[in-house]
Amino acid sequence: MNRLAPLETFLEPGDGAAIPLPGLLAALYGPLRLGRPDSAPYVFANFASSLDGVVSLNPKGRSGGGEITGFNRHDRMVMGILRSVADAVIVGAGTLRSVPHHLWTPGHIYPDLTTSFVELRRSLGRSGEPLNVIVSARGDLDLSLPVFSSGEVRALIVTTKAGVRKLEERRLPDSVSVQSVSGDDHLEASSVLTAVQQSGRAELLLLEGGPTLMGEFLSEHLLDELFLTVASQIVGRSSMGERPGLVSGRTFAPELPLWSSLAGVKRAADLLFLRYRFRASGAAGLTAVGPTST
Ligand SMILES: NC(=O)c1ccc[n+]([C@@H]2O[C@H](COP(=O)([O-])OP(=O)(O)OC[C@H]3O[C@@H](n4cnc5c(N)ncnc54)[C@H](OP(=O)(O)O)[C@@H]3O)[C@@H](O)[C@H]2O)c1
Repeated sequence: MNRLAPLETFLEPGDGAAIPLPGLLAALYGPLRLGRPDSAPYVFANFASSLDGVVSLNPKGRSGGGEITGFNRHDRMVMGILRSVADAVIVGAGTLRSVPHHLWTPGHIYPDLTTSFVELRRSLGRSGEPLNVIVSARGDLDLSLPVFSSGEVRALIVTTKAGVRKLEERRLPDSVSVQSVSGDDHLEASSVLTAVQQSGRAELLLLEGGPTLMGEFLSEHLLDELFLTVASQIVGRSSMGERPGLVSGRTFAPELPLWSSLAGVKRAADLLFLRYRFRASGAAGLTAVGPTST
């Protein structure tokens, strides 16, 4: 494998728990601090966006986040580190449908670094892979997909009562559990978090999209932090909705402005790795938050 160059760091948060990255990952990423003692679970998202704000190109077979960064190895290394520290990785069913053969594990995204990822998880007292959480209102999921059938990960499907009925028509693999929460065509992010907490350790939770689920977490003020990779390509749009941005199905500004503060900046060649903090309150409803004054 070609050696990766270390990320360049321009801004790094000084607070949060120090994550003991093993030698190789520490050399590549630099120091990592994450989470707050007063916030459990700490919910952090990871997205990749083009320069013009697109997170999915959308044609079938080419709609995953990898297309946005050109399957950049630094981005995959960062994704692997974030998955390694997470108790669970949460995605919406739309994201699963766009990358149906994916497993939300660190080794799946960057196999050559698997040994370092395993070492990192062990040093954090986390054994095995992060729980893979799939959020679906309809429960119309293909249970033969690897995330459910490979046995390599434990999967939790969070769905509605109607979704449970749909899933009960088929035999669930042993590695899959289902939690029903109230709601019809949409589930509240708070109930998703409760379901994850009921399934085991849930101190650090990674949200990997997609835009619909992201909108729900932001609207309930349940996102603490966003790790955003900005790729240097412009992909364009022919119509709104065809190529989503970070959020779908929710609007914030101007009525409900939702500002964040810049907490981290790293770079690998033309790619930027940004960290933005939100004031997650855990309370339902929005409070207006203004921009940070300079
Ligand atoms: N660039 C990146 O970093 C990145 C990251 C993630 C995803 N993506 C891309 O984003 C696209 C998918 O977008 P999306 O908005 O469809 O993604 P999504 O949020 O993953 O999926 C939407 C679907 O998930 C379920 N869902 C989400 N929120 C829900 C809620 N609050 N309550 C109940 N069900 C909920 C529903 O499933 P049911 O239909 O089963 O009811 C809904 O149709 C894909 O192309 C994916 O590759 C890009």
